[in-house]
Amino acid sequence: MIEDAATATVQLVDASDGRPGEPTAEAQAARDEVAGVAEVADHAAPSSVQLFPVAGLPEFAEGDDLAAAIAAAADWLRDGDVVVVTSKVLSKVEGRLVQVPADPEGREEARRALVLSEAQRVVASFRSTLITENRLGIVQAASGVDNSNIALNQIALLPVDPDGSAARLRAALHEALGVTVGIVITDTMGRAWRVGQTDAAIGAAGIGVLHGYRGGVDSHGNELSVTQVAVADEIAAAADLVKGKLGGQPVAVVRGLSVHDDGSAASDLVRPVEDDLFRLGADEAIAQGRREAVLLRRSVREFDSRPVDPEIVRRAVGIALTAPAPHHTHPVRFVWLRDDERRLRLLTAMREQWQRDLIADGRSAEWAARRTTRGDLLFKAPEVVLPFMVPDGAHDYPDDRRSASERTMFTVAGGAAVQGLLVALAAEEVGSCWVSSTMFCPELVRRELELPDDWNPLGAVAVGYPADGPQPPRDPRAPESGLVEL
Ligand SMILES: Cc1cc2nc3c(=O)[nH]c(=O)nc-3n(C[C@H](O)[C@H](O)[C@H](O)COP(=O)(O)O)c2cc1C
Repeated sequence: MIEDAATATVQLVDASDGRPGEPTAEAQAARDEVAGVAEVADHAAPSSVQLFPVAGLPEFAEGDDLAAAIAAAADWLRDGDVVVVTSKVLSKVEGRLVQVPADPEGREEARRALVLSEAQRVVASFRSTLITENRLGIVQAASGVDNSNIALNQIALLPVDPDGSAARLRAALHEALGVTVGIVITDTMGRAWRVGQTDAAIGAAGIGVLHGYRGGVDSHGNELSVTQVAVADEIAAAADLVKGKLGGQPVAVVRGLSVHDDGSAASDLVRPVEDDLFRLGADEAIAQGRREAVLLRRSVREFDSRPVDPEIVRRAVGIALTAPAPHHTHPVRFVWLRDDERRLRLLTAMREQWQRDLIADGRSAEWAARRTTRGDLLFKAPEVVLPFMVPDGAHDYPDDRRSASERTMFTVAGGAAVQGLLVALAAEEVGSCWVSSTMFCPELVRRELELPDDWNPLGAVAVGYPADGPQPPRDPRAPESGLVEL
């Protein structure tokens, strides 16, 4: 059984002389008092935690020996201490400062260009803020590109490999002082849903960056099945309390934690994109959904047995009925065959008509029977919706040319509505296939369904969940394959 700690205190020690103090007896006592029932170790310190700014560091420049400077300024480092370094000093010594125009406009323009060049992808943009996934995989504002605490004609990029820098610094401090310390490299970040920024770890060495509680049980008997503490981020944020942003204190030491080197690195704190529920900003996700909606539709001819929620069909029809139509008319009707018996009667009659047509063409009865199995998808589909064009509001013309044009106009409006139906269904991950069938036997359809003579069938739409699951949007075609620009 490992003791639980809820009350370890944090001491902010004024170490302007560069010498740390000792944990208070009070903190030790408080910590010792707490006894838990956790089966896994607690990440809390065994006793109090102390934070020391490392005073007396120089202003760093490219090529400077950061480890030597820290070793000189903090010769009091002990085994188990965690040295927390603001990434900005690494940017400086590792030559990651970029020269830019000093005037505010030129500097801002250069900054925006650098933000994009440091980004792997833009996650969200909000007013002038760009949230990106940077080259380290970290999602943060402005790709971590920053212009604070540097000259007015410079911009700082994050270190190229902060975990590697942390490991090198750790080895160099061991070499210089003979101590085994942990290292955390920090950057300042905002948090989604929270106002204000905190420091987080972007590089680490010699510490377990995550502390998992899976399988642990608290003193009340609650299982901590999902809790995973980002220890390195907690260390980074704690150290910021003595480093600050204005006082030129880029390095601090956290003492009192029971750190252990489990080989992890700050890159382990980056949530894999496939587990990321918020991989895009809300506006970007909506924009992507809009762009891809039409590309989600494809003809689905095999369905699984899952029923389709009638509300989805109704919603899709409602969307479809917003399709453009000539001179403010409503020339489309969707007949949803909900009565199984009626549907079977209609489909059977249509198949027989098709077979009679094929036999009249000179085909054998067997051939016709085989050929008409293509219509089976309507028998098997969970739902069938029949679109119709009705000439409500169509203009009458005395001549055939204009009458035919009016009819074409109403028919294409029907096509637009059907496409709308298919896309609306696809957007709800419901598959569909628009088949011609009813267009070849309009009288029969009207008779079977007892519809008015001027209802003109526009095929049939089979509806259901695709047997092979939801598919990603497909690629658009090359515009040149169907676009003539005159
Ligand atoms: C007016 C119309 C009639 C169609 N008739 C049939 C049909 O009778 N049987 C069928 O399997 N597919 C039919 N289709 C679907 C096309 O075969 C399908 O759209 C085409 O193969 C392209 O595939 P996609 O829809 O996945 O892009 C029809 C499509 C339209 C627009």
